[in-house]
Amino acid sequence: MHKKLNHLGIIMDGNGRWATARGLSRTEGHKAGAKTVTRVLEACQKRGIHYVTLYAFSTENWKRPAAEVAVLMDLFKSYLDKDVAELQKKDIRIHFIGDRTRFTAEIQRQMKRIEEATRGDETYHLILALSYSGRDELVRAMRRFGKDVQSGLRNPDDLTEEAAASYLDTAGLPDPDLIVRTSGEQRLSNFLLWQMAYAELYFTPVLWPDFSESDLDAAIDSFQKRERRFGTVTESPFKTETTVS
Ligand code: FPP
Repeated sequence: MHKKLNHLGIIMDGNGRWATARGLSRTEGHKAGAKTVTRVLEACQKRGIHYVTLYAFSTENWKRPAAEVAVLMDLFKSYLDKDVAELQKKDIRIHFIGDRTRFTAEIQRQMKRIEEATRGDETYHLILALSYSGRDELVRAMRRFGKDVQSGLRNPDDLTEEAAASYLDTAGLPDPDLIVRTSGEQRLSNFLLWQMAYAELYFTPVLWPDFSESDLDAAIDSFQKRERRFGTVTESPFKTETTVS
């Protein structure tokens, strides 16, 4: 029996290197990366993956040259303008995670509008991590919890893992089953730190703009061949009961 891949997280990396290798500007690399986003989302839907989280812009990315940040903002804006109508048709609900207060008022309005417009499309979920980092998310969650304690809504001793998760940007969303990173780097760069506790990790040297359906299939294949036990045993040596994850 194949394991079900319900939630895929992707660290899209390598746009810059893809462009440089072709003598193109980094802008061209990001544009090509945006096309891959559309292609890969379609492929995920075809394969019945219900949740996809894309790491599109980290809190660290704000430190890139202003011109590159502007290019990325333009790409997000036009993606949110154009492709979202398409996503809606495909029954995809959009969520944003990250510190949206750092975006312009226009982008923040767009985010809100899209979240509201796609609420109710519950079959597929696209979670865009924008101005996101796992530590920043955790700090913002702790701050919110602290405020609830201060106002008497919460008691510190009531804080369970479940309650803590409800303060995260991903509240209500399932944890990722598989995290893919393109471009050969083997690190998580502050992505979904809390949520990835049991995620399988898959690293591929393919640069994001080149990431194809068959690369996606290779990642899914590798995931399905792994055994996930969540710290338990697959079969009890005493044959009393079977614990499966
Ligand atoms: C990493 O490549 C990629 C980014 C920082 C931006 C990701 C953005 C996109 C894929 C395009 C737009 C996305 C959406 C959702 C419309 P890099 O620039 O760090 O590449 P490098 O490491 O080779 O320089």
